[in-house]
Amino acid sequence: MLIIGNLKMYMTYEKVNNFIENFDEDVVLCPSSIFVPYFLNHKYKVGVQDISMYDLGSHTGEISAEQAKNLGVTYAIVGHSERRKYNKETDAEINQKIIKGLENDLKVILCIGENKGEDKLKVIEKQLLEDLNGINNIDNLIIAYEPIWCIGTGITPTNEQIEATISFIQTIIRERFGQSVKVLYGGSVDKDNINTLKKINNLSGFLIGKASTDYRQLKEIVASLMD
Ligand code: PGA
Repeated sequence: MLIIGNLKMYMTYEKVNNFIENFDEDVVLCPSSIFVPYFLNHKYKVGVQDISMYDLGSHTGEISAEQAKNLGVTYAIVGHSERRKYNKETDAEINQKIIKGLENDLKVILCIGENKGEDKLKVIEKQLLEDLNGINNIDNLIIAYEPIWCIGTGITPTNEQIEATISFIQTIIRERFGQSVKVLYGGSVDKDNINTLKKINNLSGFLIGKASTDYRQLKEIVASLMD
């Protein structure tokens, strides 16, 4: 099981230090970029929460896939729904970011998912086809299915709903690439629902937001998944 903590923009320096002092389980952590070197120096597997669609050059505030790789980062989240919403990222931009990530040998975690009231399968198919346009090698691609109505809300779909959505994702991917892909679930995963969610058969792991910023809770989740 692949466990990835998306620490988002939740932590100050003090909280990061406290986390690092107390947590040494085998997960991938995606902190704010400003803290990436701390986590790398403490031998964690580290991902960035976003990468630039551009190569090295004059792009203020951006972090390129090459810089991340060069520093020792191994994963990159791309297309998170918060970036799609607040930063108005388009599927065409997300596609460019995935290309840069894969070109630089990062494991790219592509986030997809529908909002409440949207036609789930239609949204997912469109995101997959547009975000992966022109890409031929998906060996280093991971997909995170994150229904937007479940992120930070305390609500999760039923196991049956998640399982059906993952099968649908695998069907699209197999039709397009002739192989399957790792699919994670994300959205309000916590220590209380992990024992239920871990029973989903076709799941490769979890992308955990808020709950991953609390090292005690993250330890409980890891322990449950190791069971
Ligand atoms: P959440 O976030 O676990 O806080 O709902 C998940 C995510 O956005 O990746």
